[in-house]
Amino acid sequence: MILAVSLISPAFMTATASDYKPSPEIIKSQEEFAKDRFGIFIHWGIYSMFAQGEWYLNYGPHADEYAKAAKGFYPVNFNASDWAKAIRGSGAKYICFTTRHHDGFSMFDTDQNDYNIVDGTPFGRDVLKELSEACRENDLSLHLYYSHLDWLREDYPRGRTGKTTGRQGGMENWETYSKFMDAQLTELLSNYGPVRAVWFDGWWDHDEDPEPFDWHLDEQYALVHSLQPACLVGNNHHQNPFPGEDIQIFERDVPGENTAGYSEQDISRLPLETCQTMNGMWGYKVEDTNYKSVPALVRYLVKTAGQGANLLLNIGPQPDGSLPEEALDRLRGIGEWMDVYGETIYGTTASPFGNKEWGTSTRKGNTLYIHIMDSEKADDILIPFEGLPGAKLKSAGLFDNNAKVKFSKEKEGYRLHVGDIPEDKIDHIVVLEFI
Ligand code: GLC
Repeated sequence: MILAVSLISPAFMTATASDYKPSPEIIKSQEEFAKDRFGIFIHWGIYSMFAQGEWYLNYGPHADEYAKAAKGFYPVNFNASDWAKAIRGSGAKYICFTTRHHDGFSMFDTDQNDYNIVDGTPFGRDVLKELSEACRENDLSLHLYYSHLDWLREDYPRGRTGKTTGRQGGMENWETYSKFMDAQLTELLSNYGPVRAVWFDGWWDHDEDPEPFDWHLDEQYALVHSLQPACLVGNNHHQNPFPGEDIQIFERDVPGENTAGYSEQDISRLPLETCQTMNGMWGYKVEDTNYKSVPALVRYLVKTAGQGANLLLNIGPQPDGSLPEEALDRLRGIGEWMDVYGETIYGTTASPFGNKEWGTSTRKGNTLYIHIMDSEKADDILIPFEGLPGAKLKSAGLFDNNAKVKFSKEKEGYRLHVGDIPEDKIDHIVVLEFI
C-alpha cells in the first residue's frame, strides 16, 4: 500500500503540473512584459560590502564571519527614488531586485528569521518597501529575484555549491526549508503591492545529483499564482521551461547563442528574457571596472529585441547604497538613445530572419525596422521574403530623416542599397513598410 502511494504521487504531481494553462491575468502580464523589452537587474546585499561579487561567501569566509558585515551595513546613500528615476531615465520599464541571494541574507522585512535588512543591520529600513513605492511612482514594474538555494541554512538540502561556509550538515530538512521559502514568498507577494514576476535562481545547485532532485516547483509556482494571479514565474535553471513557468530566462546570452555556456536549452514560445551584466559581475566588485560602452550596450539591447527577447541589464549598487557612476553614465546614454529610437524596440517582435553579421531587425505590425549596427558588413543587405510582414515592400526610408532608401527585388528577397553609413552611428535604422 505504502509503495503504491509513493509510486502514484510523483506521477500525479507531473500530471498536475503539465496541465498548467496560463490564466487570463498571466497572459495579460506576459503581453505587457514582452512589450517592455528592457529592464534593470539589481544585485544588492551584504555581499556588496566585501566588494567581491555576490558569490563571495562561496569562496572562503565562514558564514559567521561573513554575517558580521550585516552589523555594519548602513548604506547611507541609498535612495530608492534616485534609483528609480535613473533607471526610468534609461528607458527601462521594470526592475528586478535581489530579495534574498544565495548567501541567505534577506533584503526585505521578513518574520522568518532575523538575518535581514530590518532586524539584522543598524540601517533597519525595508529597502524593498521603499523600492516598491519608488517603482510605482516612476511607472516601473517590480520583479523579485529569489534564490532557491541557501549557503547558510542547515535545513537546505545541500547541493554542489557553498560547501565551505561552515554548515554542520546532517540537519537537512526539506519540509522546514520549503515552509520557510513559502512563508517568505507569501510575505513578498503580500506586502509590496503588485509584483509582476518572481525570478527564481539556484535550481542548478542540484543538477549533478545522482537522483533528480525534487524542488516541488509545481506547488511553489501554484502558491505564487494564487497569491498574485498576474505574477509571472521565471526560473534561471538553464533548462527548457518547466510547466508553471510564464517566461523563459537566458543568462549572459541572447536566445540562440551560447557564448557563456548556460544556454543549451531550446527557445520556447514563452516571452523571453536575457540577463546580462554591465561590467562582468552581478554584485558590486571593486576591481571590475570593465564596463561595456553605451554603444555596445545599446547594440546588445537591439540584438536581444531582434531575437524577440527582453534585456535585463544588471547593476551592482555600491555598499553605500548608491549606483556606480559608470552605471549611471550607461543608464543616461542608453536613455538618450531610447528617447529617439525607442519606438523601434518597445512593443516589437522578433526579426523574421534572426540576427545577421550587420545587425538585425524588429517588427511592429506591417513595419520592419532594419537595424544596421556594423556598417562595414552592411554593403549588401538582403531581406529574405520569408516571414516578412506583408506581401509587398511599399517603401524604405531612413528612420532619422525619412530619406528614401533604394531597394530592388531579387529572387531570394529585397536588396537594400543603403549607401554610406556614418561610422560613429550606433545603429543606422531603415524603416520598411509592407502592404
Ligand atoms: C547566476 C549566478 C547568480 C546570479 C544570476 C544572475 O545564477 O549564480 O549569482 O544572481 O546568475 O543571472
